Amino acid sequence: MGGAAVTGLLQHPTPDDPYRYQFGFGNHHATEAIPGALPLNGTNLPQRGKYGLYPEHLNGTSFISSRESVSNVWLYRERPGAPHSTPRPTERPHEIESSFLPTNPNVQFAPLTHTWGPLTPPPNTSTTTFVQGLKTIGGNGDATLKEGVAVHQYAFNADMHRQAFVNHDGDMLIVPQRGVLDIKTELGCLRVKPGMITVIPAGIRYAVRVVPHDPPSPAPLVAGGYALEVFGTRFVLPELGVLGANALAHIRDFEYPVAAFDLESLADNSSNTHLPPWEITIKLSGRLYSYTQPHTPFDVVAWHGTHAPFRYDLARFHHLVANTDQLDPTAFCVLTAPSKWPGVSQVDFCIFGEKWAVARDTMRIPYYHRTVATELLGIIKGEYKGKVRALEPGGLAFEQAYMPHGETYETWVRDREAGREAVRVMEGYLGFMFHVTGHVGLTGWARGGHPDIRAERPGVWDNFRSHLLDHIDEANASLLEAGMKTLQHPQPPISPPASPSYTIVPSDDDTVPVPGGISENQNER
Ligand SMILES: [Fe+2]
Repeated sequence: MGGAAVTGLLQHPTPDDPYRYQFGFGNHHATEAIPGALPLNGTNLPQRGKYGLYPEHLNGTSFISSRESVSNVWLYRERPGAPHSTPRPTERPHEIESSFLPTNPNVQFAPLTHTWGPLTPPPNTSTTTFVQGLKTIGGNGDATLKEGVAVHQYAFNADMHRQAFVNHDGDMLIVPQRGVLDIKTELGCLRVKPGMITVIPAGIRYAVRVVPHDPPSPAPLVAGGYALEVFGTRFVLPELGVLGANALAHIRDFEYPVAAFDLESLADNSSNTHLPPWEITIKLSGRLYSYTQPHTPFDVVAWHGTHAPFRYDLARFHHLVANTDQLDPTAFCVLTAPSKWPGVSQVDFCIFGEKWAVARDTMRIPYYHRTVATELLGIIKGEYKGKVRALEPGGLAFEQAYMPHGETYETWVRDREAGREAVRVMEGYLGFMFHVTGHVGLTGWARGGHPDIRAERPGVWDNFRSHLLDHIDEANASLLEAGMKTLQHPQPPISPPASPSYTIVPSDDDTVPVPGGISENQNER
């Protein structure tokens, strides 16, 4: 006697999540909401498909792609996506940008620090959908060149009723900070709460709503958070190298939807004239277009492939610890998107959460540094303990590539004197970083239109002093012992130093022209 499973492992519904999920990052998943809907006779395109379903192929990479990079999915649906009206530009105002070339007058590359507060929730008197509430902070590259990234904040309070969104520019990683998202996609449904992330690949139609309070509450029903969009690349798991086969985010913890479809178009199979049309909004090169179709886009009965949305619970991430030195922040990389430079990432998504700090005889605060990467730090929950700027959950801090930054002088002195016992750090805190290779240009909205642009704490850099001057005698002893010329104690200036011979002239829209720094990993590493 023995036993045998009747199916692969599925995540089944729970009281706060009505959906099922299948596991495995990058798997070629196969799922059917009606048994037998997937063709199994060696063809993706049967002459007479089961239940009369229409096969439809969605390619996320060109046909000639390596097996490692190919991303596609076969859909078996009630009606194909082809029948629809002519797309027209939307007249709704929006603040979405997908071109970050220096020739774009809406974008500015400048070596400035910026900090933004959480995006203001829409007032109860208005309705804002996820698409309407998506605002672009900045990015680099261009969606049409298939190279670059875009960083967004979002805030919304209204469901997408008979509406769907499809991004033709790139894959979108969504980081909820406030409000539980219910995302219906062509490939099935995802429930994504703060502390989770989701990635929706380009070309897949989806609708987002915020889950009502449970238990019911008079508090406004709003959702807010962040999104990271990549052009011409895909999110993958970082290489593990000498870490081996098991570390950071585990492959099995990435959850994919199972096929799910709506039956509404079966109500009137002849014309559907009694139902209002669906409106599909396309994002293409940062512009929005919409078309209508009489039938639901959520009619996929079965699918198989790799071009699929997924979610990941950040609480499952394994934080590494260091014994005698610091780990670089990318040691906490959940997902990365490769650039066209072999072995170099275009953007890394890293998180900073609860862990042990055990390193001895080393600084635990982040070292002062400059980097080719632009850093955008956001907070999902918890208290931000960095001293350089005022930041809170929902806010975002920006440090341009190559700009020097680090902790305050007081924090540096305190860390030099602190004990080195093993301690838990970042309890109750979850932050993240979009670690973007190269410079990032900011949109006009980010520089002047955002409702909460914050200046750096005044005088935060004014009190740094030289400690070397306190150790001149000690240094001279070492120099003499080595047979080298000794240092002279510098004399204080007789008169105030001359004014600089240049003047910084801020442009009209440089609203926060201040130097600064992110304390990204603002507790001990
Ligand atoms: Fe940094």
